Amino acid sequence: MSAVITTLGLTKAFGGHTAVDGLDLVVPQGVVYGFLGPNGSGKSTTMKMLLGLMRPTSGEITLFGERLSPSSRGALLPSIGSMIEAPPGYGHLTGRENMRIVADMLGLDDAQTDRALATVRLTEHRDKLVRNYSLGMKQRLGIAMALAREPSLLVLDEPTNGLDPAGIEEVRTLLTSLARQGITVMVSSHLLDEIDKMASVLGILANGRMLFQGTRHELFQHSIPDLIIETPDSEAALAQGITGVMVPEGIRISGVDQERTAEVIHRLAAAGVRMYEVRRVQQSLEDVFMDLTGREGLL
Ligand SMILES: Nc1ncnc2c1ncn2[C@@H]1O[C@H](COP(=O)(O)OP(=O)(O)O)[C@@H](O)[C@H]1O
Ligand SMILES: [Mg+2]
Repeated sequence: MSAVITTLGLTKAFGGHTAVDGLDLVVPQGVVYGFLGPNGSGKSTTMKMLLGLMRPTSGEITLFGERLSPSSRGALLPSIGSMIEAPPGYGHLTGRENMRIVADMLGLDDAQTDRALATVRLTEHRDKLVRNYSLGMKQRLGIAMALAREPSLLVLDEPTNGLDPAGIEEVRTLLTSLARQGITVMVSSHLLDEIDKMASVLGILANGRMLFQGTRHELFQHSIPDLIIETPDSEAALAQGITGVMVPEGIRISGVDQERTAEVIHRLAAAGVRMYEVRRVQQSLEDVFMDLTGREGLL
């Protein structure tokens, strides 16, 4: 699988603060790449550097196999559609008028902008003023603006931010269908949930560093199962110096490897705790994510 974006040691410092710290990104062609991290972890800064909107302090960016530089930027950008931070668009103009501005800037025809509006399902709203759009419609208009030039790479910064579940589902369906058509989509979020079901590759950022990059399946390989002990003696079990929580069927202890499982069983049996069943269960993706990011400010 060839990569559409790669970075090597990508770094951005603001004064003494390193916002993006030595990122080695690999975004394969034709996937939805979920770029996840808590607020302030460096997602927008990274995306701005990828688009040539901000100059890295150090490190290299390669797009479509070509090194991004002030001289290559002009040739690379027409293949990239983007939406960074807030959705763009003038409130006092209609959706279609906003699209026409984009079209004029990029030299596109009405057929292309109408197609982009249709893709995000805004055709029936295209003659309404953008200030009367819902947040979801504004986000979709932003995606339409990014799509109008028919890019082979879309870079979208938190396009699901503030959307209700139906809005998130709509963006998810749209982005996965774009990826199926061969468009590479890099999409950021601070909420795992919003991205989990659409991204096939995840990059997880905290404090400007990449904690994990790979498929969902690979992420699960980092996880250690939880242990559930079915017992009527939950309190007695927790009194044995075991850090677990009470659940309806007994107690649940997170992240327990095989050796510790044996120890726990031994200790509880020795204390006379009745155990009806002991089973190891896969952590939720959320828990794996929380363990990686140190449970700071997520979800
Ligand atoms: N232009 C800037 N000047 C100074 N600090 C900045 C600037 N942009 C971002 N930062 C800082 O860099 C860090 C990462 O910010 P950002 O990339 O916006 O994170 P995210 O998009 O993940 O929320 C934050 O600590 C933020 O305050
Ligand atoms: Mg951001």
